[in-house]
Amino acid sequence: MDIHSFASPECARVRHIVLDLQVDFDRKVLEGSAELQFDLFAGTELALDTRGLAIRAIENADSWELGPEHAILGRPLFIRVGQGTGSVKVHYSTSPYASGLQWLDPPQTAGKQHPFLFTQSQAIHARSWIPLQDTPGVRVTFEARVKVPAPLRAVVGAVAQDGVFRMDHPIPSYLISLAAGDIAHRAIGPRSAVYAEPALVDAAAEEFADTESMIQSVEALYGPYRWGRYDILVLPPSFPFGGMENPCLTFATPTVLAGDKSLVSLVAHELAHSWSGNLVTNATWSDFWLNEGFTVYVERRVLEKVYGRRRAEMEAVLGRGELEKEFARLPEGDRVLHVNLAGRDPDDGCTLVPYEKGALLLRTIEESVGRDRFDAFLRAYFERFAFQSITTGQFQNYLRDALPNPVPVEEWITRPGLPAGAAEPHSDAFDHLTWPAPGWSTQEWLHFLRSQSAPDMPRLDREFRLSHAGNSEILHQWLLMSVQHGYRPGIESVESFLCSVGRRKFLKPLYTELMKTEDGRERARAIYAKARPGYHPIAQATIDGIVK
Ligand code: BES
Ligand code: ZN
Repeated sequence: MDIHSFASPECARVRHIVLDLQVDFDRKVLEGSAELQFDLFAGTELALDTRGLAIRAIENADSWELGPEHAILGRPLFIRVGQGTGSVKVHYSTSPYASGLQWLDPPQTAGKQHPFLFTQSQAIHARSWIPLQDTPGVRVTFEARVKVPAPLRAVVGAVAQDGVFRMDHPIPSYLISLAAGDIAHRAIGPRSAVYAEPALVDAAAEEFADTESMIQSVEALYGPYRWGRYDILVLPPSFPFGGMENPCLTFATPTVLAGDKSLVSLVAHELAHSWSGNLVTNATWSDFWLNEGFTVYVERRVLEKVYGRRRAEMEAVLGRGELEKEFARLPEGDRVLHVNLAGRDPDDGCTLVPYEKGALLLRTIEESVGRDRFDAFLRAYFERFAFQSITTGQFQNYLRDALPNPVPVEEWITRPGLPAGAAEPHSDAFDHLTWPAPGWSTQEWLHFLRSQSAPDMPRLDREFRLSHAGNSEILHQWLLMSVQHGYRPGIESVESFLCSVGRRKFLKPLYTELMKTEDGRERARAIYAKARPGYHPIAQATIDGIVK
């Protein structure tokens, strides 16, 4: 039972979707049809999720009706069909304000010549561009035909075949994706390519050159990569996340193009989702930690294999540090792994807790049973639940039977904070960071900056030009400290950063910090007035809650 969907999959379950869409950049709408093929188990009604969709007609329906608008869930679409009916075809168009779409004008792209469109369906935004059963408990295969005006190109997270995109593995709705714009591509491995605007494609190919070794490391640990191709689409800077694990085609922020591969843990992360998340999926958004906690654990195992233990441990220590800060900001109920989301938008559950506390639980089990046994367990887990959506309870039962261990798993899942005996990652690399030295890695910089209680801001800036850092994570950390410590030259750079980047992880802390002083509030409001139109609807919703 998923409280974030109007669907009743026990009565009717959609199995396959045929999408036929036209991208209209002038009106900022997708227009076309979705044919839904389904199994009817009980009754004669198919209930779907929609948000902001204009429904024109439904073929094969006896009658249909849109229910009242719900602030978080959108509108249910009830379709009555005759006994034995196995498909309906919905003709519809999206709203220009669809929460799962961002329409970029040419100035918001690198090339400045053409518009751009991309989707972001997780958690419950697929319903704003396709009428469907928008719950991770329902999996569908699909095929998609997408018309875009020349010379632009459409890409879909699926396999392209003679102008049709096909996804032959059953996936949850939040993994359905589409992008369109001036998109070029370059091969980076035997089953991988990068897609990006032409100006970025070479830099992206170099940054992500280790992708094939990453794929091979996960395969060696947890079994074959099952999705055929693993491509990466680099989006314009307003993309609201670091990355999104759309199957076959990871979506990524351009802010990870640091020039030195220092931020490619993002690729390790999204790739890891090909096992944890895309193969074995959280059944509801309260089980989100099954996706993200497992993925962060696997991500660090990949980093260890490809870049060495030193790098992986630095990331683990940084993660633990950020988790402690997140705990301090959150109410007790959000410091557990299995969160209660009743009456809430599932995007609210997207804190660092499912990521870092989840990964720490797995690491703690690993340390207690030994790495070999834990690896065998994970490999069997991915096999056992492949192409299924499971709950936290199902994981607990499977763990209890397959790998008896002394870790108090129930306490990890239902109680706030970290239980006694939690693993404590440690990095020697961070032991003696007194003053920056040439050749410091991004991770050393981040640890150093975050551990300063009274930093000498002017001297650091003079010696290392941090207000103009080229690495987005370091720059973000520096700008945050500039606001915290009232360092003027840094504060002067905040505006251009907030006006050029739309990644929510960067925006949220900066606006939050600015809002803490009178002067800062004024600045935040002035900046947000300029920047807001360029942000994604999901980022707008988050920052509205901070600045308004
Ligand atoms: N699936 C998430 C992004 C997401 C989560 C989108 C919840 C919508 C709702 C993705 O895999 C992710 O975790 N991205 C991280 C980057 C990662 C390296 C931790 C992000 O975007 O910051
Ligand atoms: Zn993730």
